[in-house]
Amino acid sequence: MSYDTVRDVDPAVADALVGERDRQNDTLAMIASENHVSEAVMEAQGSELTNKYAEGYPGERYYAGCEYADDVENLAIERAEELWGAEHVNVQPHSGTQANMGVYLAMLEPGDKILSLELEHGGHLSHGHPANFTGKTYEVEQYTIDPDTGYIDYDELQDLAASFDPDIIVSGYSAYPRDIEWEKIQQAADDVDAYHLADIAHITGLVAAGVHSSPVGIADFVTGSTHKTIRAGRGGIIMCDEEYADDIDAAVFPGGQGGPLMHNVAGKAVGFKEALEPEFEAYAEQVVANAKALGDQLQEHGFSLVSGGTDNHLVLVDLRDSHPDTTGKDAEEALEEVGIVLNANTVPGETRSAFNPSGIRAGTPGLTTRGFDEEACREVADLIYRVVDNYDDDDVKAEVSERVDELTDEFTLYE
Ligand SMILES: Cc1ncc(COP(=O)(O)O)c(C=O)c1O
Repeated sequence: MSYDTVRDVDPAVADALVGERDRQNDTLAMIASENHVSEAVMEAQGSELTNKYAEGYPGERYYAGCEYADDVENLAIERAEELWGAEHVNVQPHSGTQANMGVYLAMLEPGDKILSLELEHGGHLSHGHPANFTGKTYEVEQYTIDPDTGYIDYDELQDLAASFDPDIIVSGYSAYPRDIEWEKIQQAADDVDAYHLADIAHITGLVAAGVHSSPVGIADFVTGSTHKTIRAGRGGIIMCDEEYADDIDAAVFPGGQGGPLMHNVAGKAVGFKEALEPEFEAYAEQVVANAKALGDQLQEHGFSLVSGGTDNHLVLVDLRDSHPDTTGKDAEEALEEVGIVLNANTVPGETRSAFNPSGIRAGTPGLTTRGFDEEACREVADLIYRVVDNYDDDDVKAEVSERVDELTDEFTLYE
């Protein structure tokens, strides 16, 4: 087959691809759930494995010609087992949401009960939101963040577990800046004979590198997405003890998915190999150090951080104290204009709406991948302050934009 490039075949898509590469190169990606994978991970994800049907699992496929698919999946599994210390790993979920779906399908019946953190307090759609299949299929009760401390209200969680009697308790969050006390949640689950699903989508890389406590060996099920801090390309993963292995595998395929996205499984294998190198531990440590530096400097400028700081890769800024008339959306839009890309976020005790909330969430995985250190992150905090404090001043935004250009030129990303 002749090799035509995307540009030969489809200039419109080629333009969008180049545009996206330039956008990533020329802006600061501070959306806490994003990162930049290596060219090697992208090569694997763009490989001929996209053509291959491999329903089933290594050695037991429903299709012929799966020897290389088997190699890739076995490598991804072995590396994941080593990274997180799990007894059993399923690397086929197409995303973090589908990883969670695999656990629910394996362990729950429709109408069973989920206890999880509210979305507005940092939970995830796939933990029981009414707009998600989880909210439609299961009965859901939700715990919250203590608005005074910004920490999970573990006492409330335990009380709710006792009164609601859930079948599963979900921990692991989308916008929570603190370490998670997995044992306390496990205890609450044990007390009512419920399963415990720890969704480490955001912190997969931090857990693998040992810079965040691990729920593996504590929670019954650990799920994650593979494109965030672990930098292994888009996808999901489920970990569990051997006793649940068959149920989980059957729930992923044929329960909730057909053929695995083998090109993405290849991306996971390559990303996991990179994460097993000693440099990855240094990367993960730097992600956390950078988030602390960013948070400290934001506080120096008078911003309030939910929980007063961070233990992980993200900070959650509550704008109501420092900038009562500025919404998260105002800040997000002004920052995007200057090339700092983060997202508006609800905060515990939210008084506005989910669409136009009172906070912004900022993460350091992407900046750290491109080489930012604490000093550079403190400067980013200065830039964020200048923009949020003057969000309708075009002169300030032009100056900050120029500095962002210099920073992205200094800390290069893709060729
Ligand atoms: C805690 C948590 N779980 C699951 C997901 C879902 O991952 P995906 O977008 O891959 O479905 C996310 C995404 O940000 C998340 O934050």
